Amino acid sequence: MTAAQAAMTVESPSVEDGAALWRIARDSESLDLNSPYSYLLWCRDFAATSLVARDADGEPIAFVTGYLRPDRPGTLVVWQIAVDRAHRGRGLAGVLLDALSARVAPGAVEATVTPDNTASDRLFTAYAERHGLRLEREVLFDGSLFPETPGPAGGHLPEVLYRISPRPHHDQTTGESL
Ligand SMILES: CC(C)(COP(=O)(O)OP(=O)(O)OC[C@H]1O[C@@H](n2cnc3c(N)ncnc32)[C@H](O)[C@@H]1OP(=O)(O)O)[C@@H](O)C(=O)NCCC(=O)NCCS
Repeated sequence: MTAAQAAMTVESPSVEDGAALWRIARDSESLDLNSPYSYLLWCRDFAATSLVARDADGEPIAFVTGYLRPDRPGTLVVWQIAVDRAHRGRGLAGVLLDALSARVAPGAVEATVTPDNTASDRLFTAYAERHGLRLEREVLFDGSLFPETPGPAGGHLPEVLYRISPRPHHDQTTGESL
């Protein structure tokens, strides 16, 4: 653990953190920014499946928001994860993912990643490797599903679903995957 990680506290967010979460998402420049209201609502209704990391002064420096899928309550969906630029590259996002999955103990973790987001790809791939889990990828939302977005880059990139779950057991006697 680094000194920065040791000085950090991680806990469920409260409504008072909603504005800071919105600011971190806005300043990330890569997340889809939702309304300030949605972050307040998230901090009220999904605090048990979300975490905020604070620096030594108690200021939010990173967050992860998630929910349990209503039709698959064993699956934790990571909705957004972001680390303040000044604190990136020190394993903070990995610490948040580990802490959230330890708290929720889900059967599987899902997140979507756009193909241009190398840091996010590394984050979820490393998480699966660290925990000895299987990682499967498939396009969840093709770019054409999104409303047209203005700008030179054109439309939305596909959102690729990363599904992270236990490796199937291999039956030595039958050779079948269980
Ligand atoms: C993605 C993000 C949360 C990672 O936070 P972080 O605390 O810097 O990540 P970590 O230090 O835990 O690093 C995770 C992995 O990504 C790699 N990584 C971090 N930044 C990277 C970069 N800019 N380019 C390539 N790889 C990068 C790390 O090396 C590490 O991989 P490793 O375990 O193989 O060494 C952060 O970059 C961020 O806030 N990005 C903007 C928001 C965003 O894109 N969120 C994800 C949407 S799904």
